[in-house]
This record gives sequence, C-alpha cells and structure tokens, in this order.
Amino acid sequence: MDSSSLLQELRNTVSCKITDEESVLNTYGTDWTREFIPDPLAIVFPESINNIRDIVIFANKHKVPLVPSGGRTGLSAGAVASHRELVISLDKMNKIIEFNETDRLLSVEAGVTTQEIQEYAEKHNLFYPIDLSSKGSSQIGGNIATNAGGVHVIRYGLTKNWIKGLRVVTGNANVLDLNKGLTKNATGYNLKDLFIGSEGTLGIICEAIVELTDKPRDSVNILLSVSDISKSSEILNLFRNNFILNAFEFFSNSAVKHINTISKIKFPLKNSPYYLLIDIECGSEEQLIKAESIYNVLSTSGIIVEGIISQNNKQYNELWSFRENITEAISVFLTYKNDISVKPSQIPLFIKDIQNIINNEYPEFDTILFGHIGDGNIHISILKPKSYDKGDFLKFCKEVNHHLYRIVAKFEGSISAEHGVGMIKRPYLMYTRTAKEIEIMKNIKSVFDVNNIMNPGKIFPS
Ligand code: FAD
Ligand code: LAC
Ligand code: ZN
Repeated sequence: MDSSSLLQELRNTVSCKITDEESVLNTYGTDWTREFIPDPLAIVFPESINNIRDIVIFANKHKVPLVPSGGRTGLSAGAVASHRELVISLDKMNKIIEFNETDRLLSVEAGVTTQEIQEYAEKHNLFYPIDLSSKGSSQIGGNIATNAGGVHVIRYGLTKNWIKGLRVVTGNANVLDLNKGLTKNATGYNLKDLFIGSEGTLGIICEAIVELTDKPRDSVNILLSVSDISKSSEILNLFRNNFILNAFEFFSNSAVKHINTISKIKFPLKNSPYYLLIDIECGSEEQLIKAESIYNVLSTSGIIVEGIISQNNKQYNELWSFRENITEAISVFLTYKNDISVKPSQIPLFIKDIQNIINNEYPEFDTILFGHIGDGNIHISILKPKSYDKGDFLKFCKEVNHHLYRIVAKFEGSISAEHGVGMIKRPYLMYTRTAKEIEIMKNIKSVFDVNNIMNPGKIFPS
C-alpha cells in the first residue's frame, strides 16, 4: 500500500490529529541529536489509550514501524524516525489524573513534563526528585523509557525508583496495567520494570503512577576547583561522611568558556583543570559552620585550589546554573556525545585513562568532560571544529569510540549510563552486554512485540 492510502486508512481508523506536513515531520522526526535526517511517514497525536491501541493494531496489520515520541530531548536518537516510521507523539496526553495524599502517588498521562510533576509536588509541599536541565520539555513517558538520571541520583536513585505503576499498550496491542501503585508486590516477574529503560521498543507508555516524597531541608552548594581529579574521591568521602549529599557533579575547564557565552554572570573561579559542584543538605547554622570548616581544611591542605560556598538562594541557583547550562551552551555546535559510567570508586583512574585517549586521539578538538561523578557517570562532548566536514567528524569520533569503550569494558562500566542506546550507541552494545544477554533481550522484545513494529533499529546492534 502506498503512503497516501496508508494514511487515509489510518485517518479512517483513529480519530485524532494525524499530519504529514513537512515542518511537523522535521520537528517530530528528531530529538536533540543531529546525526540522522528525519524522514517519518506521519505524526499521530493520540488523545487516549484507545487511540493508541487502534494505532498499534493498524501498525501490526500493515507492518508499519512505530516511534514513540516524548519531549524529544533525548541524546541517543531513540525518538528519531528516519525510516518512514509513524511517530506517536504523547503531547496531547498531558493530563494529571489524580493524587492520593496518603499514598503520595500521583497518576499522570505520559505526556506530562518532568517540570510539571516537580511543580505539582511543590504545590503539595512534597518533592519529585528526578531533576534534569531538560525538565521543561522532557516528558515522564520519555524519562521512564530512558530511565533518566539527572543530578540527584546520588541521593534518590534513577527514575525507576519513583515509578509505582504503568499503563502501557504493548507492540502486540495488549493494554497492561502494571503494578497499580503498590510498594510491595511479590507475584513473579516485574513487568513494570521491563518497560523502564526500554526506549519505546516494547510498547507505548500511556500513563504512570509516580511516587512523591518529602522535600529536602535547606541546601547549600559549593563550587570547588581542583588541579587533579584524583582528589575527588577524598572530597566525596569527606562531604558524604558529614552531610546528606544531594549532588556531586563535575566539569572540566573547557566547559567554562561555553558556559560564559550564555551565563548572565561571569564564572567566579580561576582557570583550573576540573571543577566540582557539591550540593549538601544544610538546614542549620551549625551545619553551615561545619561545611565552612571542611572547606577550610580542604583549602589549607591544598586538596582544592579555591572555591565558593553559596550564601543565599540566589547564589545557590547561580552556582547550579554553571553546571546545568553546559549542554545548552554547546548546543550551537554539532557535538559528539558520550555518556559512560563506572563504579564511583573508579572515577579518578577512569577519568585519567579517558583524558589520555582524548589527548592522544582528539588533540585538536574542543572536548568537554562533565557529569555526575558522585554516581560514577561522566559525559564527554566533542565539538565539531569548523574546518571539519560533518561526515568526516562523525566517522572519526566513531572510530575513536572503540578505544574509549575498550577502557569502559576494562573498568566493567557501561557505554550508556543514563541517555539510553537509541541509534547512536547500538553498534557498541557488546562492550557492556554479552551476546547471551542481547539474545535474551531480543527474545523478551518478541514476546511483547511479535511483529517488531516498536521502535525497530534502536538498542540492538544490526
Ligand atoms: P524523547 O527524547 O522523546 O524519547 C526518548 C526515548 O523514549 C525514545 O526511545 C522514545 O521512543 C522513548 N519514549 C518517549 N516517550 C515514550 C512513551 N510514552 N512510551 C514509550 N517510549 C517512549 N538525561 C538524563 O538522564 N540526565 C540528565 O541529566 C539529562 N540532562 C539533559 C539536559 C539537556 C539540556 C538535554 C537536551 C537532555 C538531557 N538528558 C538527560 C536527556 C533527556 O532529557 C532524557 O533522556 C529524557 O528522559 C528524555 O525524555 P523525552 O520525553 O525528551 O524523550
Ligand atoms: C547532563 C546531561 C547531558 O547531565 O545528561 O547535563
Ligand atoms: Zn547527565
């Protein structure tokens, strides 16, 4: 059947907005990655689970591949449609369904943004701990499908920890109501958790039950510079032994000139190889004095070069903005991104090895290291120099990836910590997963999606 007959049949089958307007195809056919050229068949905007079920039945009948699409802030091309897929946007399924104060459970449709959930929690004097700088656009469905991390993982864990129920339509068009908000449910395999991090390959997440928690007490943050990243473990231990840590982040000095291009205030520390941003719960005068005395010990013993402790809310937000703005500041460049993890104790040695690869293989490139070192996760962003053609640049980065991922494998780490595999990382999956594991994952996919219509070409190596 040709494209226009297919779309006509889809329009007769599903009563919601369906478009193949070019500008919409280009917008909804891609995410924050710019490697692949979007080429979707059409974009569908379902408004109910029934709409989604009808779309999946149609897709199975005609073997049309489907790409679930959230806020399209993904960094692995998981939501990219470049092979005439039908994109299912969750934009119109953006309602808060209900909140139960006793259970502290918030039921939402999948298109609600991360920030809307945070704001809802705040209004009820509660807290939703998953925090990413893409929160204004990223949707809870996308967060669940990627098992998003963000800056508070060291304290609160990943998205998975906060999802108590899911309503999904599988690739076989079955509607499943998984776990229904229970904390305890020891009745066999945890099907809900299979959908968390599944990157749209098993089915479409339509609704989620999200748990909210107590708000943290007042916090302060501390921006430090270090000449050597090997000091980071000692600093992490010192703060963790004395405080509740909300975040333990880092970035390399190459980030600073980019941050300064979008920041309203000038970066306050002198040039140094690495900066640490540490966020601690600090609810009393006594704790503040303790934080200052730890800072003085670090400073006088030469473990750090210099630093700043936030003195008020305004300064707290300013110090955070330096770290949070990195991805946006470099978004004007074509960037090759990596998102890798090891156990936190291995971070200093791991970064040294990574830095050696960068110095040897990318000496002339502008390369930025940053991320969540407190939980073992570093991001590497390599900016395309103006003199390079896009194709040559990407080819080169992909070749160097093999060196990089051999180091990741040596440390028994992961080639994708929190951004997912999508299309970008799938050629490298075997550095983290064995052939047997990949075979089992494929078998699981076929149980939920017998015709392989759900996001084909993502996660699995071709
Ligand atoms: P999309 O990009 O739309 O989709 C991501 C994947 O989920 C795709 O495979 C898609 O098919 C699937 N999907 C989306 N919705 C559904 C659904 N309803 N059902 C089934 N599958 C679905 N990530 C982090 O983990 N931590 C960070 O700190 C972080 N910071 C970021 C900062 C910036 C500035 C940007 C641009 C991105 C950042 N990200 C971060 C990456 C991104 O925001 C996350 O991966 C986020 O979870 C993606 O959500 P989304 O709604 O945009 O999903
Ligand atoms: C961050 C994104 C890139 O940590 O994951 O800013
Ligand atoms: Zn991150």
